[in-house]
Amino acid sequence: MNSSDTYLVTGGCGFIGSSFILLCRKNNKADIVNLDALTYAGNPLNLAELQNDSHYHFHKGDIGDKELVASLLEQYKPDAIVNFAAESHVDRSIFGPEDFMKTNIMGTFHLLQVSLDYWERHCKNNPGKRFRFLHVSTDEVYGSLGSDDPPFQETTPYSPNSPYSASKAASDHLVRAYVHTFGFPGAITNCSNNYGPRQFPEKLIPLMILNAREGKPLPVYGDGMNVRDWIFVNDHCEAILSVLDKGTPGETYNIGGNCEKPNIEIVRAITGVMDELFPDSPHVPHSSLIHFVKDRPGHDRRYAVDCSKITRELGWKPSMTFEQGLNHTVQWYMDNPQWVGSVRSGDYLKWLEKNYEKRS
Ligand SMILES: NC(=O)c1ccc[n+]([C@@H]2O[C@H](COP(=O)([O-])OP(=O)(O)OC[C@H]3O[C@@H](n4cnc5c(N)ncnc54)[C@H](O)[C@@H]3O)[C@@H](O)[C@H]2O)c1
Repeated sequence: MNSSDTYLVTGGCGFIGSSFILLCRKNNKADIVNLDALTYAGNPLNLAELQNDSHYHFHKGDIGDKELVASLLEQYKPDAIVNFAAESHVDRSIFGPEDFMKTNIMGTFHLLQVSLDYWERHCKNNPGKRFRFLHVSTDEVYGSLGSDDPPFQETTPYSPNSPYSASKAASDHLVRAYVHTFGFPGAITNCSNNYGPRQFPEKLIPLMILNAREGKPLPVYGDGMNVRDWIFVNDHCEAILSVLDKGTPGETYNIGGNCEKPNIEIVRAITGVMDELFPDSPHVPHSSLIHFVKDRPGHDRRYAVDCSKITRELGWKPSMTFEQGLNHTVQWYMDNPQWVGSVRSGDYLKWLEKNYEKRS
């Protein structure tokens, strides 16, 4: 794809979507139309630096609003749709799964339906129009691994365990079905845990960074030995670009950071960075703030991703080490207090209190 392309990005005011849009605009990769419903997780401040960019267009709305999506497709005639829009927090899916079903399943369905119609009318029989629909998904659809199991491959059977991962699995199946049934040029990426700037502070890494700075407890679920494969968000976005550019329609690509770590190790790494950055803080050593809380129900034990297919076929691999990525992330949260203030509403604080009940 070249710089005259236009991408319709959904959920572009969220954590990963905003990083993707900033990357595209920085490299003049494509004009961007961002459709975002601005839920609690969508923050227009994430893209404030694009306010005078004439190649960036924002529309507030729901991916399930067929009339709106159809009119955007007619207006902009995008070369690709990149679907980030989702309810994305596992804990919230346990307390209130309905929004997850609405957006992740029905929203994706409506988006697919309207995109199929657009593709059939404008692209299918037009050799000059190389259209792609990229559905951004998660490694959580594969379920949980035992400590000696091999990492997830694209052929690993789906076995989702939370309402969040079940809703994402359902949306992946829908994309797959549209490819198989209609020849629709959809592709799916299943990525591991992301971290980096602009992540909503309900997620592990930003929550720990901000709590450590403020001398608040650092709540760690269970025994802290749940393992995740961590990837810096820009590496994920680069992988998505390589799938858009070189990927084969109908294929699934796993994306991971080759960086498996238990949660407690992540939290200790954060406290180490905070000790170095703030040696005079009254909270040194910040590790003394760690406390273990009641485990999340159904908490998957281990995720690990085999991303050799995307490396082999498309030449992508993660470029940031965990240490580099974490230092960069901590620094970003320290440098952006205005952003942090803007996302921490009273509702958010109540949510934290409810979720991280102390272990008895
Ligand atoms: N965060 C991760 O570690 C991770 C890992 C792998 C895959 N993913 C997937 O990547 C995508 C983006 O994740 P994220 O962490 O940036 O999520 P996020 O929660 O930060 O952002 C989601 C965005 O989608 C928007 N949105 C929600 N419902 C919408 C709707 N109905 N219509 C339009 N917009 C809507 C929100 O306003 C928000 O801007 C999700 O699909 C998620 O499943 C995330």
